[in-house]
Amino acid sequence: MNPRLPVIGLMVATTLVSCTSPALPEHDIVPVPREVEMGAGSFELGSETTVALDDADATLVRTLEVWAAPYRAQGLPLAIDEAGSIRLSVDGSGEPESYRLDVTANGIDIRGADHAGVFYGLQTLSQLMASDAEVTGGTLSVQAASIDDAPRFRYRGMHLDVARHFQGPDFVKRYLDHLARYKINHFHWHLTEDQGWRIEIDAYPRLTEVGAWREQTQIGHGSEEFDGDGERHGGFYTKDEVREIVEYAADRFITVVPEIEMPGHAQAALAAYPEFACTPGPFEVAQTWGVFEDIFCPYEETFAFLETVLSEVIELFPGPYVHVGGDEAPKTRWEESDYVRDLMQREGINEVEQVQGYFMRRIERFLNANGKTMIGWDEILEGGVAPTATVMSWRGTIGGIEASRRGNEVVMTPYSHLYFDYYQSEDRGTEPFAIGGFLPLDTVYAYEPVPSQLRETDAVNIIGAQANVWTEYMKTGEHIEYMLFPRMFALAELTWSPAERKDYDDFLRRLDWHTRRLDALGVNYRPLDGP
Ligand code: ACM
Repeated sequence: MNPRLPVIGLMVATTLVSCTSPALPEHDIVPVPREVEMGAGSFELGSETTVALDDADATLVRTLEVWAAPYRAQGLPLAIDEAGSIRLSVDGSGEPESYRLDVTANGIDIRGADHAGVFYGLQTLSQLMASDAEVTGGTLSVQAASIDDAPRFRYRGMHLDVARHFQGPDFVKRYLDHLARYKINHFHWHLTEDQGWRIEIDAYPRLTEVGAWREQTQIGHGSEEFDGDGERHGGFYTKDEVREIVEYAADRFITVVPEIEMPGHAQAALAAYPEFACTPGPFEVAQTWGVFEDIFCPYEETFAFLETVLSEVIELFPGPYVHVGGDEAPKTRWEESDYVRDLMQREGINEVEQVQGYFMRRIERFLNANGKTMIGWDEILEGGVAPTATVMSWRGTIGGIEASRRGNEVVMTPYSHLYFDYYQSEDRGTEPFAIGGFLPLDTVYAYEPVPSQLRETDAVNIIGAQANVWTEYMKTGEHIEYMLFPRMFALAELTWSPAERKDYDDFLRRLDWHTRRLDALGVNYRPLDGP
């Protein structure tokens, strides 16, 4: 304040300010952008509103189509026109996936560093509307704002286990829509397990003829006495369905990371092809949960089988990553196997645990030779991996810390903060039956993916974080959504927003808009104040 200003002038000035500049609205954007300046007024988006593309390249047209589809379905044409008041452009500069969004009463400008940036600008634009899910009165009012935004991490992931309980392509697409709205850019598709093999492989049809079906499913957490539901469960994705889902994801700037588990969690594959186990079998597609001792045996024939499977998988998934599991592989059968004993002698391996290192390195060489980066759960560190592998640290953060110090890239996914199969309340009686644990929204929100003990030179190897949805106890899409929301909002913010912009109270305030959006979209979620 200028102390020389006459008091009367100050009063006039104050009065003027309060008359002409009502408080600017707060924004509700999740994940919170790097910089937001709200403006006065709004842009009225109506049936006359058109969109100008600065360059009519096919990807930009497609990006607009994907974003506009729900609005078009509600009667807003959003046609492409050179004179459009919504202007989209890719300016080729700035950080990957970043964008600038300006909304004034006269128009809307979105400039993306790349196409993904434009897509994210459009996602943010949706969140400046009173509702993006219901067009009321033929228009959508967009709050004036200037936003500069870019992601903190390049890997922002959500996982879905479709092996414990199969979900069809329509649900997978719906799940991808959830991710896209919140700028999550990797979908980790957990396709194989002891309880089911979910992807068609031409060379090995029994993987889905036999491996995709189990006779029944354990009820409850399991005990000495097996209690099954008596219902056959299963399903799988045809190659055409996989291609369609991969394309659907790509249209939303989501990379699909397929997971083919090895050497453990392989009992469904062994039920189909018992010759790849160390003992003769027969095996059945598992009906209970847990960790199974029958795992792939490291025969040459097994590697030939896995390489054929992976070749078919690689053909379907254009992204850089193939996830090969590596977790929870008991060595009981390997210890008892003459073949494995001979292999150890031949390769100079002293400990049976190290055979997994030999196994994973062979697979890694194969993937690298085919232009892919291997991802595995943190157990892959135990046998020694090449620095080209990306490590998912799930058993806490130690694996991630160690891997990043060794020079491996790391995706943090510790069960303590990012396992969305855990209960959302300590009062389990009011929640749907779950595997256990307790992971409320504030714990997810508080998670910081870069461990404080890492030096800056190692911290750069933490490329992001991912939350996992294991579905032992989730049969329906509705149940999955209940476990996903609101926790996925927190994941979005901790992977996208600058750490210093996080604010839990403000986040909770903003969630009001997002839960209303879920209501309008017919998406299930756990209410913030409990069920
Ligand atoms: C895991 O939860 N077994 C990766």
